[in-house]
Amino acid sequence: MQYAFILGRVYTLSLAELIAVFKIMGVEFKILACAPEVIVLETNKALDVKILQARLGGVIKIIKILDIFQKKGKEYPSQVLETYFNFKRINKDFFTEYSGKKQFGVSIYNLDPTVRFKEEAQRIAFFIKKILQDESQSVRAVIAQFPSQALSSVLVNENHLLTKGAEIVIISGNQKLFVGKTMTVQNYEDYGRRDYQRPARDERTGMVPPKVAQIMINLAGNFKPLDYILDPFCGSGTILQEATLMGYRAVGSDLDKKAVENSEINLEWFRNRYHVAPGRYKLFHSHAAEISLQLPNYKISAVVTEGTLGPIYGKVPKKPEMVANFKGLSKLYDQVFKEFAKFLSPGSRVVMCLPAYKVGHVDYAYMPDLDFATQNGYTVQAPISSEIKTKYKFLKVTERNSIVYDRKDQIVAREIIIFQNGPSVDESEPASLVEEAQNTNSETALADVSSSKAESDNT
Ligand SMILES: C[S@@+](CC[C@H](N)C(=O)[O-])C[C@H]1O[C@@H](n2cnc3c(N)ncnc32)[C@H](O)[C@@H]1O
Repeated sequence: MQYAFILGRVYTLSLAELIAVFKIMGVEFKILACAPEVIVLETNKALDVKILQARLGGVIKIIKILDIFQKKGKEYPSQVLETYFNFKRINKDFFTEYSGKKQFGVSIYNLDPTVRFKEEAQRIAFFIKKILQDESQSVRAVIAQFPSQALSSVLVNENHLLTKGAEIVIISGNQKLFVGKTMTVQNYEDYGRRDYQRPARDERTGMVPPKVAQIMINLAGNFKPLDYILDPFCGSGTILQEATLMGYRAVGSDLDKKAVENSEINLEWFRNRYHVAPGRYKLFHSHAAEISLQLPNYKISAVVTEGTLGPIYGKVPKKPEMVANFKGLSKLYDQVFKEFAKFLSPGSRVVMCLPAYKVGHVDYAYMPDLDFATQNGYTVQAPISSEIKTKYKFLKVTERNSIVYDRKDQIVAREIIIFQNGPSVDESEPASLVEEAQNTNSETALADVSSSKAESDNT
């Protein structure tokens, strides 16, 4: 089975999460192609795409690959697919059963970011529309706004493409071209509700976006339903709410009484809104370095936390301020990791955000070292294997194996690190890397596509 996944903006984090969730679900995979925006995989079994989509905070769309073409040169997708689409194929392979006016869209993702196609999606949509109209079908084509060649999940959703027709997806590389159909898109409206509709939001200390909280929980390991996840810097309770939604039990604490109250209000709202069973969370008012005192009856499986990001700044702090802040945090986290050792069993993880100040367009000032964890017996777990990292150089994993989650408007970015209690386990993914694979299951191979006419628009 072959699938493509459209990755979120912080694509390295999205990919790390996808690999972690495959591991949890026992899915083995081969990478057929990978670019910042999209990854194409062959899996050892069919995926329940609805369940997978809901489980993944970092994946925007899941696409089922229906055909693969071997390219000869730099042909345009419209040239490769010149004779591919016909009335029968469109109706049988792409369109959903729907008796009203059909709506469809065409999205093109490029595996080679240096190549940009002009109006290719429009061109293909136009000839599909013509094929259907020639058969007296009433159809409407939805096209991304130029220069984009791919529809956003919002457009797919608002135009009901998955229920009234299809989103036809073309993923174009230098050697291969994949054709597929979108099966699911991320429920962005629900993530918005989980974030902005909460009754007690604390913009001042900052809240981790629900998607990122979900990703961090996925990176923390494989748990059984009702296992306990701890956030000892819980703030308004975002990580806790996501943990309960994923079927775990959440334990949260904070030094600030008001934060504990906010979490209580938010989790009660969340429980009702999302039909979470009662008794799935417990809150304490505590210093994080004393949290074990509250936990005699809880077997904590993992810690997932944003930690404190230090003082709130209106602009990037001067170096001495940063140094002082990092020093204070190191001291606090040293105590906190000593505390974790009291209840976390070997192999358990602490997935944590550390502050990283933006000091340039793409540069960050990080906490200078991770001694607070490593000197207390924790090791950093690679979010992505070195094999994949080496092959796909565009992946942004820091030298110390963390991933930065950044937002344009923010002064402090979040450096996400996976710590493991005890020695690092070699987690080489069950992936074998077959970029633009030699073997294709496609029965349709266009043998005769002129490559001489093809040229790409690099502007
Ligand atoms: C960045 S906020 C966490 C926000 C949270 N992730 C959310 O989404 O709402 C950090 C929290 O750490 C708490 N905090 C700071 N120092 C603490 C300490 N020593 N022990 C426990 N909590 C602490 C602050 O009160 C604050 O609520």
